[in-house]
Amino acid sequence: MAITPINEEVTFEDAGVKGRPIISKTDLKGKITFVNSAFAKLAGYPKNELIGKPHNIIRHPDMPKAVFKELWDTIEKNQKWRGFVKNLRKDGKYYWVEAFIEPVFDENGTKIGYISARKEVSKEDKEKYESIYREMREKEL
Ligand SMILES: Cc1cc2nc3c(=O)[nH]c(=O)nc-3n(C[C@H](O)[C@H](O)[C@H](O)COP(=O)(O)O)c2cc1C
Repeated sequence: MAITPINEEVTFEDAGVKGRPIISKTDLKGKITFVNSAFAKLAGYPKNELIGKPHNIIRHPDMPKAVFKELWDTIEKNQKWRGFVKNLRKDGKYYWVEAFIEPVFDENGTKIGYISARKEVSKEDKEKYESIYREMREKEL
């Protein structure tokens, strides 16, 4: 069942989501509760294969563990997180996003989950973070 990564990029344009926000919501543990159509298209899944799955369904093996640790440390403190993420599609190809994640509260002020919006990454930033993350991963091995 594991997806074999292919070293081939899919851009927002390739996926037909140019200029569209890429939205997902999770519960407190990171289980997906909502995705918009643009998210599903970019990740290469039908929506129903994403809802109820852990958000790491699109985790790419090139991503350093430390990035996600910092992400969770930040949002669990009820702060907003922003960062660059390389994601794995269902077909094994990858796509880059700049992600913005923050907690969601109900009307009583109880935290009920998280929401994230993502946008396109420039070619320069993709190259920059490919190399930063490669170095970070080498240190994690
Ligand atoms: C709202 C929200 C959005 C997330 N978006 C992504 C994402 O786009 N890609 C990703 O790899 N992880 C994302 N994560 C982090 C995953 O929950 C997970 O921590 C990460 O994929 C690493 O997997 P692991 O924690 O099993 O090591 C998101 C988490 C939350 C709460």
